[in-house]
Amino acid sequence: MQAIARSCPNIALIKYWGKRDTARNLPAVDSLSLTLDSLWTTMDVKFSPEILQDELIINDLQQNNEFSRVKNCLDMIAGKNRNFAKIKSSCNFPISAGLASSSSSFSALVIAANSALGKKWNTHLFANQASAISGSAARSLLGGIVELENISNGIKIQQLSKPNRWPLKVIIAITDTKEKVISSSKAMKLSARTSPFYASWIKDQTFDMREARAAVTDQDFEKLAVISEHNCLKMHSVMWTSRPSIVYWNSATIECMHTIRNLQKKGVPVFFTIDAGPQIKAICVPENEDLIEKSLSEIVGVRSIMKSDLGSGPSLDINI
Ligand code: DP6
Repeated sequence: MQAIARSCPNIALIKYWGKRDTARNLPAVDSLSLTLDSLWTTMDVKFSPEILQDELIINDLQQNNEFSRVKNCLDMIAGKNRNFAKIKSSCNFPISAGLASSSSSFSALVIAANSALGKKWNTHLFANQASAISGSAARSLLGGIVELENISNGIKIQQLSKPNRWPLKVIIAITDTKEKVISSSKAMKLSARTSPFYASWIKDQTFDMREARAAVTDQDFEKLAVISEHNCLKMHSVMWTSRPSIVYWNSATIECMHTIRNLQKKGVPVFFTIDAGPQIKAICVPENEDLIEKSLSEIVGVRSIMKSDLGSGPSLDINI
């Protein structure tokens, strides 16, 4: 009745922002992402009749944050009459700071909980369960470059490119590790209700997905760069024009964007993306990794740099 799973966060290039069904947490748009390999979350889930209440420990500390989402996830997988569970999680990067920690956490939780109950691996089922808790989590169930597509009664994920077919690098400039001011879930609902740009954001996603998919097929870095930055800035425009306005960036975020734009002007193949937080993710090819790391680390306000290759997806470490 115990299993440990390890999963890595994914970084969306074509973003998910908005829900078509809030009760089932279904995304309003398709999305496309890179699964990382050097950032990770492990989830150790143990169900037992001897455990007297659910317990959640994250990085050795008892937690109440996210506890209800974790319990809902276990109820969905094991049923409401399940045994109580002890859940121990470790994460090697800042949580709830725009580094996609919910994608690694909830994908790992779904895998560990199903495995602890003796259920066999089922990517489609696990993706739909993960997505019901946190939309971005489904994409972490596969490695490399991953597409999430809306289908009539849920979502479908597929791998567009294996991790070493197109070995991109992701360099993350951490500009602040504080918890985000507003959760993605709340912010998305606000955007859908109040941003005058929300409808066109949804409408144009099909085009952006098509462009990005073609760029991945052809390994066309320039094309992927242009559509990814455009999609990211559109998502942030929707956030900025929500009422009240949702701004996740700080001044270092903007400095990092300028630095990346200057490198592009010099012909360096690199582009940025930003999620619901102030961190910048620079995507590049291996030859330029050191240059980009150095350029970003020199910016005032950049506290640290994390680097990652594309990863091969989650693993189930132990099944007791
Ligand atoms: C900006 O998956 O955290 O990172 O489904 O409400 O849990 P919920 O949202 P979440 O949103 C991620 C938003 C994003 C873009 C993306 O990853 O596609």
